[in-house]
Amino acid sequence: MSKMGLLSHKSLFCLFLMTSVVFILSWFLVLRSTGPNHSVDFSILPNSKLFALSYNENFDKSSVMSASKDKEEETAWNKYSKHCDPNKQVLKVFMYDLPSEFHFELLDWKAEGKSVWPDVRAKVPEYPGGLNLQHSIEYWLTLDLLNSEFAVNLSGRSAVRVRNSSEADVLFVPFFSSICYNRFSKLKPNQKKSTNYLLQEKLVKFLFAQDEWKKSGGRDHIIVAHHPNSLLDARMKLWPAIYILSDFGRYPPTVANVEKDVIAPYRHVIRSFIHDSSDFDSRPTLLYFQGALYRKDGGIIRQELFYMLKDEKDVHFSFGSVQKDGVKQATKGMHSSKFCLNIAGDTPSSNRLFDAIASHCVPVIISDDIELPYEDVLDYSEFCIFVRISDALKKNFLINLIRSIGKEEWTRKWKRLKEVENFYEFRYPSKDNDAVQMIWQAVSRKVPAMKRKLHRARRFSRTIVSGQGEVMSVDIPRNFW
Ligand SMILES: *[C@@H]1O[C@H](CO)[C@@H](O)[C@H](O)[C@H]1NC(C)=O
Ligand SMILES: *[C@@H]1O[C@H](CO)[C@@H](O)[C@H](O)[C@H]1NC(C)=O
Repeated sequence: MSKMGLLSHKSLFCLFLMTSVVFILSWFLVLRSTGPNHSVDFSILPNSKLFALSYNENFDKSSVMSASKDKEEETAWNKYSKHCDPNKQVLKVFMYDLPSEFHFELLDWKAEGKSVWPDVRAKVPEYPGGLNLQHSIEYWLTLDLLNSEFAVNLSGRSAVRVRNSSEADVLFVPFFSSICYNRFSKLKPNQKKSTNYLLQEKLVKFLFAQDEWKKSGGRDHIIVAHHPNSLLDARMKLWPAIYILSDFGRYPPTVANVEKDVIAPYRHVIRSFIHDSSDFDSRPTLLYFQGALYRKDGGIIRQELFYMLKDEKDVHFSFGSVQKDGVKQATKGMHSSKFCLNIAGDTPSSNRLFDAIASHCVPVIISDDIELPYEDVLDYSEFCIFVRISDALKKNFLINLIRSIGKEEWTRKWKRLKEVENFYEFRYPSKDNDAVQMIWQAVSRKVPAMKRKLHRARRFSRTIVSGQGEVMSVDIPRNFW
């Protein structure tokens, strides 16, 4: 009996001990989760909580508080870090003062005086219109950095230009590679190599000679190559950098991938649907597609779908890419359709998705390999429909699926489209959470992993400073990423 009593005493004590431990632990967790509030406003993003936490963990107070001693270099960043909330993290970007032949001269702008940059307070050079504009991301990002120096109020800003590269989180290479490809890849008379080729060659030479590049092997550099064919010659050499791309279709996975790089939206060519008071019943066309018929690679599916859908009377399916006067018609078509098809072409991405978003026409995406902008913080299933290529090719699968989506579900997606459309608007000056700011934020989210890998890679390497003060590159293995 006494043995039994002892046992039950023991187990009671054990139980008490365990409960106390659990209680203390949970109290501790509650305390942690009600810690100081973060002033960064992530509420606009769907995964805001998760993001805000990881974001602030990587926050380095000392780097934000440091203000330049150099009075003459009172940049917007310095003003900001002195007077504003140090908890609000803004990406610090150093921009190379590349000769203007790499950027605004490609837009027929001519430099006056010594500056390689236009005075963006006076007049902003225009980017050539038409289909060129889809890939104009390089232009908007550069303008935003130039403008950041004149900003009196940095609220709503995600990036700011700093003049001292050692204070920067990332280094921006302002080469307008897309317009360079579009306008200068043909040989001119007397040319052996195209301007597009020569500029890339020059850029590689320039970057490889910079101490900043040598220090990191280029890992903290940002290079925009939004047109799938832009930077074709230099991409295999500059790949350690963070690329801003439209998709990875024409890149080997070691050169560009979703871990390292940033996917940016196309600038839509269809006009935005301002004051959209349409609804499910007032959009007469069920499904809309306009595009080229015969495309390489993944594009064969277009033809198959055409034969499947051509006899459905509320489906608009026509071929021919959107040209000048076609934009007006396509705008009308997309603004009056419930669903807009987005089918893999010769690249996994196309501007059609972003045209659909601007039209509040629920995108139906048939492209297994598509990469979507900001997908780490945005759930596309809230406003898009995804269909596997193999399913789309089954008889009547697509049309039955789309007909099964009722007014309620469609309206939910349509409302969400109106909430997210701002994430895809490129403008100057840029505003809160538009495409420019969202791209900078996406770059910011790459920074902690990039820095961690960079620091790890430096563990066993020595920076050798030779007699002339030359910094040798650090020894970083090729399979770094
Ligand atoms: C900065 O702009 C925001 C709105 O964009 C405004 O709420 C805030 O008061 C402004 N701050 C200053 C110091 O002007
Ligand atoms: C640039 O920043 C680094 C680190 O903050 C500092 O040591 C250096 O003096 C700065 N250079 C100039 C020219 O201000």
